[in-house]
Amino acid sequence: MLTSKRILLVIGGGIAAYKALDLIRRLRERGASVTPVLTRAAEEFVTPLSAGALAGAQCYRHLFDLTDEAEMGHIELSRAADLVVVAPATADLMAKMAGGHADDLASTLLMATDKRVLVAPAMNVRMWLHPANQRNIAALKGDGILFAGPNEGDMACGEYGPGRMAEPLEIVAAVEAALGEGPLKGRHVVVTSGPTHEPIDPVRYIANRSSGAQGAAIAAALRDLGARVSFVTGPASVPPPGGVGVVRVETAREMLEAVEAALPADAAVFAAAVADWRVANAAGSKMKKDGSGRAPALEFAENPDILATVARMGAGRPALVVGFAAETDDVVAHAATKRARKGCDWIVANDVSAATGIMGGAENAVTLITAEGAEEWPRLPKDEVARRLAARIARALCAG
Ligand code: C5P
Repeated sequence: MLTSKRILLVIGGGIAAYKALDLIRRLRERGASVTPVLTRAAEEFVTPLSAGALAGAQCYRHLFDLTDEAEMGHIELSRAADLVVVAPATADLMAKMAGGHADDLASTLLMATDKRVLVAPAMNVRMWLHPANQRNIAALKGDGILFAGPNEGDMACGEYGPGRMAEPLEIVAAVEAALGEGPLKGRHVVVTSGPTHEPIDPVRYIANRSSGAQGAAIAAALRDLGARVSFVTGPASVPPPGGVGVVRVETAREMLEAVEAALPADAAVFAAAVADWRVANAAGSKMKKDGSGRAPALEFAENPDILATVARMGAGRPALVVGFAAETDDVVAHAATKRARKGCDWIVANDVSAATGIMGGAENAVTLITAEGAEEWPRLPKDEVARRLAARIARALCAG
């Protein structure tokens, strides 16, 4: 719910502006009040009358409207909100935001606000992919601007790809997350992610091919549902998401320590590809060839199993412990055995044989194994797998 939350909604000039009218309704249904602001281009797509009527509030348009400046200056307008939402956020509007322009009411409000800003981009796929736009997005993300979408799909211009504005209900979910109002509000979830590095000597290590993409997506999806997330990550190639508590570790033993320090938690998701073994005789200084032609013998010691340790910890155990099982054959049978052996509640099983392209790829095909049985999910982008899993976690915690 968004009871008594005040949303300043900047509507940019794109064909998706019509969806912003539905967004006003959806936000108000949840108890929010909405103050619409139209850019000049937005008025080509929707009218101030329709935006104002649906909002049940005045719709603002021009910076130099003296009556409004007397009643409510742009500074005050930008600060009276709990959250500023830009939907649709056009390439031009985002370029202005990234560049710090303030030459109309919308861009001035976005510069003057002291509140969080959530943008829902909408544009043609080529514009979305253009390096200038991608540069602006990176800058905006660096500034802490939140994003909802865009989605991939058919576009009004007849092309296909990323650039479709997120649906109004997806934007509502992002608004709730930004305001900490999702179903996981007040819940704490620990997520492990990425590979571990196990040193051989100070400059060499043993590692694996995990990118950390699935773990990062899960942490972001849990955050979006309002959870406080402790993200314990090995040296991953994908950066950690914003808005989560990041703890960076290298080895399995450091990861276990960081997880234990992060507890208590309502749920824990172990998406890290933890090395099963570490080098027991790691050298304190760089190993050198001694000219004899003999290769050094590495001895291995077993690493702690972080998932099993937490799943079997008795008092203080998170109510829901979720593990992953990356298998190359007999995926469901092996994963079900693993669930019992490790003592966790759920196992997210996936086939990582080379032919699937899943390890390091953008998609995942998983089977969720619970006490009730196995549930096969279709092949989906890792973000979507994460959203589904986060929704299931929210359902389980809220029912329990
Ligand atoms: O035994 P296996 O490595 O296949 O189990 C995978 C699951 O166990 C993953 O959820 C992984 O994060 C977790 N794990 C762990 N600590 C280890 C090994 C695996 O937490 N040492």
